[in-house]
Amino acid sequence: MKIILTGASGLLGSAFARAASLRSHEVIGVVNEFKGPVAGLARQISLDLSDLSALEAFTLETFPDAIVNCAAVSSPGQCDKDPGLSKRMNVDLPEKLALLSKHLFARYIHISSDQVFDGKHPPYHISSPTSPTSLYGIQKVEAEKRVLELAVEFASIVRIPLLSGNSPRGDRSLHEQLFRALSENYRPPLFVDEFRQPCPTENVASVLVELCERNDFRGLLHWAGSQRLTRFQIGEQLLDHFGLPPSSIEQATLANNPAFSVWPPDLTLDMAPLEGQLKTRPKALKEHLDTLIIPMQYREWYHSQ
Ligand SMILES: NC(=O)c1ccc[n+]([C@@H]2O[C@H](COP(=O)([O-])OP(=O)(O)OC[C@H]3O[C@@H](n4cnc5c(N)ncnc54)[C@H](OP(=O)(O)O)[C@@H]3O)[C@@H](O)[C@H]2O)c1
Repeated sequence: MKIILTGASGLLGSAFARAASLRSHEVIGVVNEFKGPVAGLARQISLDLSDLSALEAFTLETFPDAIVNCAAVSSPGQCDKDPGLSKRMNVDLPEKLALLSKHLFARYIHISSDQVFDGKHPPYHISSPTSPTSLYGIQKVEAEKRVLELAVEFASIVRIPLLSGNSPRGDRSLHEQLFRALSENYRPPLFVDEFRQPCPTENVASVLVELCERNDFRGLLHWAGSQRLTRFQIGEQLLDHFGLPPSSIEQATLANNPAFSVWPPDLTLDMAPLEGQLKTRPKALKEHLDTLIIPMQYREWYHSQ
């Protein structure tokens, strides 16, 4: 298949490029500011995807069989800092890609987030009412609605949880952010009452490749890690794996932190109807710790410990 991949330089997009190329798909990856090569791409192009007319020209010229949208302003903090840009990337872009996929009769895989829920009534099913507590979550809900309205017969919208993996810049995933904090002599407070299902990027990527290749799972879908952990337990597993002292992180509680009153406490996703229907099986964080790489920028610090 010829696949357009947006966000090819991101944490998830880069994993998708590798997974799809292993299945012999021709992946044309779009990056924005990233300058390095991304493994697995047949072609890499730089394009500002907030410019929808440039996106349209590129997509029509490429004429893909599938579009996988991993581009986003992907953190709640960034969305709050620039609501205009985040709306263009998180709402207008998915809407345009939905229209283009319909026009081209192409499969469309759009990535959404567990943050469409408030975390107060887990587990969340695909039919659970959305209840976002951040601008990022609100934009994700809006994108889901528009994609469903415009291209339900072509689109799969996959809500995913916190991801673990190696990002091209070494700054995006759980262990990379932990390394950053520790190398700056910061002891991060991690919540013992905040529950997530961390999922390896390779595992989500392989689900997305399967969804490109089949047409029977459309609409809203959930995928997550097989184990529910607290944010503190995630930190403990990462420290243990890299041989760093458990005292490097601090135990904190959401309940005692008014500044985090809108932070979703438990985003457990129910994976029906996907789980059990794909070749890919959900994985736990501990099953992929060996694949995690210490980012280049923290190696000197790490070896001095
Ligand atoms: N990471 C998580 O834990 C997580 C959890 C749940 C859901 N998600 C969702 O999963 C998807 C992928 O997230 P991610 O963590 O892989 O994201 P990421 O690492 O932050 O990567 C974002 C990607 O979007 C691209 N991008 C941003 N602005 C752009 C623009 N104006 N034009 C073109 N490209 C642009 C970036 O390109 P450059 O690098 O070239 O700038 C990068 O490739 C997103 O929809 C996110 O909301 C992520």
